[in-house]
Amino acid sequence: MAVERTLSIIKPDAVAKNIIGEIYSRFERAGLKIVAARMLHLSREQAEAFYAVHKERPFFKDLVDFMISGPVMVQALEGENAVARHREIMGATDPKQAEPGTIRADFADSIDENAVHGSDAVETATQEVNFFFGPDELCARTR
Ligand code: PPS
Repeated sequence: MAVERTLSIIKPDAVAKNIIGEIYSRFERAGLKIVAARMLHLSREQAEAFYAVHKERPFFKDLVDFMISGPVMVQALEGENAVARHREIMGATDPKQAEPGTIRADFADSIDENAVHGSDAVETATQEVNFFFGPDELCARTR
């Protein structure tokens, strides 16, 4: 199986609930290694650029407003099959549809405030990791 990198964002609702460590534990238990991480408060311009693919969707403004409502924790995760593995542990976008035991089933309140983001494919993962992290910020985790 290929070693991949994927982008994770712990969204403002989950940061406000003080569950960053709980979510990090789930990454680690799933065999995903954190290779870069940063807490930041996104600007409207950054959030609009990150979610540009959704700019025609009816929820775009609400999504951007939510994502700039407080700090987020952004990390690049590395591991075998990391993109799919990460999406598996996040659960479905709508927490009502998410499998029990997933991050969204356990911690998300609604589809609008759904705790975490994860890249949806290997190609978008590369773009999203590069959106937040330069090559010098991505650490090798060979040991
Ligand atoms: S879709 O239909 O598959 O493209 O949608 P999806 O990829 O699941 O969702 C895209 C992102 O938009 C968020 N989203 C919403 N935000 C606010 N309101 C509503 N109704 C809504 N529906 C979807 C969803 O959480 C996705 O954000 P990320 O950060 O990628 O999880």
